[in-house]
Amino acid sequence: MLSGKTVVIGVCGGIAAYKVVDVVSRLKKLRAQVHIIMTQNAKEFVTPLTFQSISHNLVVTNMFEEPKSFDIKHISLAEKADLVMVAPATANVIGKVANGIADDMLTTTIMATKAPVLFVPAMNTGMYENPLLQENINKLKRLGYLFMEPDEGKMACGTTGKGRLPEPEKIVNHVEQLFNSKKDMEGIRVLITAGPTREAIDPVRYISNHSSGKMGYAVAEAAAARGAKVLLVSGPVQLPVPSGVERVNVTSAEDMYQAVMNAYAEMDVFVMVAAVADYRCENAALHKIKKSGEKLILELVKNPDIAYELGKVKGHRILVGFSAETQELLTHATEKLNKKNLDFIVANDVTLEGAGFGADTNIVKIINSDGDIKEYPLMKKNEVAEEILNEVMKVREKNKMY
Ligand code: PMT
Repeated sequence: MLSGKTVVIGVCGGIAAYKVVDVVSRLKKLRAQVHIIMTQNAKEFVTPLTFQSISHNLVVTNMFEEPKSFDIKHISLAEKADLVMVAPATANVIGKVANGIADDMLTTTIMATKAPVLFVPAMNTGMYENPLLQENINKLKRLGYLFMEPDEGKMACGTTGKGRLPEPEKIVNHVEQLFNSKKDMEGIRVLITAGPTREAIDPVRYISNHSSGKMGYAVAEAAAARGAKVLLVSGPVQLPVPSGVERVNVTSAEDMYQAVMNAYAEMDVFVMVAAVADYRCENAALHKIKKSGEKLILELVKNPDIAYELGKVKGHRILVGFSAETQELLTHATEKLNKKNLDFIVANDVTLEGAGFGADTNIVKIINSDGDIKEYPLMKKNEVAEEILNEVMKVREKNKMY
């Protein structure tokens, strides 16, 4: 139920505007107060009267028209909102907000509000993939604006791809989750390492592993949603930056080490999910190595162990490690926990179906510095992320870090 919550929905000019009528109806059934602002273009797709009838509130379309109720001027809607949602969010409106333009009722309300703003983009795939739009989205995410990923499928324009407005039920579930999510990590600074590292052999080849970054990105997203200030130090992966997260892209273990150490003094919590290469080529070739002979021997040297180095200068910080194993999970994970001076370690046996690299799920055991072991069933990576953050909060409580 969303009783007592006010959702201000900005409807932009896109064919998916008609689906938002259902979103409003579902939010009303959950007892939310819903106010609609329509852009001029939105009125070409759905009439204000439709939204007025469903929301039981006057629909605002024109900033300068005489308000029919004193209570619906832009500042009052901006103040009243517990959430401002823009759906469908067009490239035009996203671009305006990203560049500080406030020239109509919707963009002015977004500029004035202190409430979270959730964009639900929907547009033609080509427009969605345009680097200008993606740059605007990333800029807004860095500033704390929230985004829902569009769905893939057949588009109104006849093409197939990413850009469909998610189904109303999915949007409303997302809104419910936003209202119900805990904000217990406000003021806590969290650094997360994620993804693989790449160690150059020559300009065209490298040593790496199968990490997709999904586990680390799930932790980053969950921590940001719980109010933490999140820095994500990421190896090369194909994932978008989660909302509210600052990302630093790195390639090699040495780059990752430097990026972590540059930020370490300002952090309270480290969650090291990255699958960092333990070794690199002593001398990466300057030019592509040519095929010759039956054998090629690469001389490898040890990379810095980021978790171990942090363990030496830990102080009051909380350090969480991961351990990906193919045998003797608990023995190897416990060794790493102790050697790296961690508060707890998340152990995953990557030979199990649905666990470890690439999957959307994981099967983990959490071992803490007292030797206590918690075993979890197969869970989605975002659920595992919540459990990890719950453990972080318990360590803070135990160490009286308020
Ligand atoms: O990215 P996904 O596809 O979602 O897959 C998730 C995962 C399998 C990568 C993740 O769940 C996982 O297990 N990550 C740890 C991978 C690993 O092999 O860790 P490790 O046993 O080599 O290292 C132990 C700990 O020390 C880790 O926290 C690691 O980040 C850290 N480490 C290791 C080596 C090094 N040079 N520096 C480090 O900081």
